[in-house]
Amino acid sequence: MNLGISAKNQDVRTSSHWTIADAMKVHADDPTTTMPVIDYNFPVIDQDVWQWDTGSLRAITGETVKFNDWYVMWALVANRADTGDTVEGWHNRNAFAYIGFYYSRNGIDWTFGGRLLQKSADLRPDEWSGSLVMRAGTKNTVDMFYTSVNTDINQSVPSCSTGKIFSNDEKVWFEGFSKTVEMFSADGVNYANAEEDQYFDFRDPHPFLNPADGKIYCLFEGNVPGVRGKFTLHDAEIGAVPPGYTPAAGAQYGAAAIGIARLADGAYEKGDFSRHNWTLLPALVTALGVNDQTERPHVVFKDNYTYIFTISHHSTYTGDSTGPDGVYGFVSENGIFGPYEPLNASGLVLGNPSSAPYETYSHFVDPDGYVQSFIDTLPAPGSTDPQNPAAYRIGGTLAPTVRLVLEGHRTFLTEIHAYGQIFANKEWNS
Ligand code: FRU
Repeated sequence: MNLGISAKNQDVRTSSHWTIADAMKVHADDPTTTMPVIDYNFPVIDQDVWQWDTGSLRAITGETVKFNDWYVMWALVANRADTGDTVEGWHNRNAFAYIGFYYSRNGIDWTFGGRLLQKSADLRPDEWSGSLVMRAGTKNTVDMFYTSVNTDINQSVPSCSTGKIFSNDEKVWFEGFSKTVEMFSADGVNYANAEEDQYFDFRDPHPFLNPADGKIYCLFEGNVPGVRGKFTLHDAEIGAVPPGYTPAAGAQYGAAAIGIARLADGAYEKGDFSRHNWTLLPALVTALGVNDQTERPHVVFKDNYTYIFTISHHSTYTGDSTGPDGVYGFVSENGIFGPYEPLNASGLVLGNPSSAPYETYSHFVDPDGYVQSFIDTLPAPGSTDPQNPAAYRIGGTLAPTVRLVLEGHRTFLTEIHAYGQIFANKEWNS
């Protein structure tokens, strides 16, 4: 790992790097960093919708919230009937994505509550990932930070819609969420925009309160600024490789970045998340030369360590770097601005087993180490080709929740819980 310089002025520090040398240490199927193989007969939460990226209702300080004794989660969903309840429908689901919500008394048995945002809130056709956060200091105000997307014209803008949450003995429901404000866009300076990189990513806002300075920041998925494929890799990105190693052709197409923006003082209290209140800062971690996507980045503060988790794909590794679909992570001993080291030396935290390489995705690690993810495709028992659609079962529902121990710079898989189970560590009563 090449250490970023932690300057006094946070705006002029450089990014930490997930180097090619770090990624050489990624190994699938290590039992401490591998998801359990899921039963082919897994249960489905709701037969009418495909469900994928999911997150619990949480506090701005990170804890999973139980609201009036209800567990609540948001998820990207698509009506199976709209997409076609088929393998193709599942793979086309992004064009039909909207944010739905679910509630549960025990954190295991979920009821689908329908659409979270009103249609009037949609600035663009699709709603992609983000975070559902109770507003601190209020009884029941909730902010849905999400990504407003139009894939036809390559637009993706982290955005926010605000509403209120209610419950009675039977159910949970929401009001408001009738309009959306845009937060910030890829600027082509700190983060690649569509002109520089037609495959740019800029999405998945994850706001949080930074305990060190009491300010609100937002993590997001971005790419390193610059023209796609035109990067020169330096020692900082290559790392401590064996003698004679040179990066393989195409490595420079990997340009993922874990982005961060800062909210102006006082804006959170006013609930004003509009553009003029945000400042884009340089990326915390880049994967230049290694991987083109670090999605849904999120933070956990624990024991004076700052952990950033992010999800990535086998298919987005570049050059001769490789690794499984799963959740990766980085740790800082010096707060949110790093420098960061890859967890477990390689960055891999939990990958899919090689016998079921696409079984889960979109892992989210909560402050107690519980990890939620969705089931993508699960090969039939005995199938010799895990990628053959004729021999896999589509998920579209949640995987078993697992638990990690976070131990300094290392993580270990320790517990396996029920499908879609969440655990709350903060009660919120209205
Ligand atoms: C991760 C992800 C997110 C995006 C969503 C779209 O699974 O790619 O980055 O918001 O899925 O479905």
